[in-house]
Amino acid sequence: MRIPKVAFLLVLLGLTSGAMALELPQNRPTTDRAALEQQLQQQRNLPDGRIEGFVHIPDQKEGVLIQPLGRSFRDFRTRWQPWIDAALIIVAIGAMAALYFIAGPMRYTKDRQGRTIQRFTKLERFVHWATAVSFIWLSLTGLNLVFGRWLLQPLIGDTSFSWLSSLAKLSHNSVGLAFILGLALMTVQWIKPNLPSRLDWQWIKAAGGMFGGPHPPARKFNAGQKMIYWIAVFGGGAISLTGIALLTPFYVLDIGGMQLMQVVHSVIAALMIAVVIGHIYLGSIGVPGSLQAMSSGRVDVNWARTHHGLWAAEEEPKQGISAAPVPSMRPAE
Ligand code: HEM
Repeated sequence: MRIPKVAFLLVLLGLTSGAMALELPQNRPTTDRAALEQQLQQQRNLPDGRIEGFVHIPDQKEGVLIQPLGRSFRDFRTRWQPWIDAALIIVAIGAMAALYFIAGPMRYTKDRQGRTIQRFTKLERFVHWATAVSFIWLSLTGLNLVFGRWLLQPLIGDTSFSWLSSLAKLSHNSVGLAFILGLALMTVQWIKPNLPSRLDWQWIKAAGGMFGGPHPPARKFNAGQKMIYWIAVFGGGAISLTGIALLTPFYVLDIGGMQLMQVVHSVIAALMIAVVIGHIYLGSIGVPGSLQAMSSGRVDVNWARTHHGLWAAEEEPKQGISAAPVPSMRPAE
């Protein structure tokens, strides 16, 4: 039997509006909007200013009519977040540029015989790069959500930007899981050498020898590196937990909770991006010879003696490297 189109539409309209209709707690005036709002405010004004009605569908959050916190959240997302992120990134890049021009790279004198010492195993490097690559991917795809519409959309057009952003968002969700796994392994593999020790205070007081003066002694990781490690553990941990909450919307949290998770997720992510910019500078041009530690796993013997003298003194006999005097440090050339 053919159902006339109009009848079908009417039935559909009746069904959906019936299911979704917001049932207000008491008789509601249908004409005067202001009066309705006033009545609502008096009747179901929840402590956070939310105004709710009742719905006959399982999804009870559809009953929220007005959520004032949503306006602050939207303000944060559209007005404040881009400025906070941009400021943190510019400050981090500026600070590293200043460090480069004021203090200069922390050079060392290469070992004349070209001897190297094993610094990281294959597993340590794999875990580091898995965490690093996934973090960088998450940063780029996350920053696209904040800046994409201003920076990318005008360049590549609406359609390409829409496709790219959808794919970026999808990949952000899955790569997030790789980051969580990498971070968990990195936490375990390096926790011991990153525990605080008395030497750390000495290192901090001397600013790591970055601005001249005697080079403070250090074991496998110095105090600066320990800070990076703990920031990665706690910051990455907070990003991971809030990310999981965002991946499972309304599973445990209500709308206010979800908005809070989003704010915490994005602010900590921005802070961590700034810290990682500093880490990338120090792990490459800031401390020449470091990058080899994370590529081949081996570093020049004099690099180890200069930057991690106590660690080198312990490792050299184990790795069959003959002792030789520690070369004098030549900071900031
Ligand atoms: C292109 C990006 C990166 C580069 C070039 C880089 C480079 C390096 C290097 C060379 C080291 C060894 C330093 C040494 O031998 O003493 C290192 C260690 C480390 N990296 Fe990275 N890294 C990058 C990204 C990341 C990211 C994204 C994270 C965390 C989210 C991270 C966390 C760590 C930690 C915790 C250590 C050990 C402590 C330290 O040396 O600071 N790295 N990295």
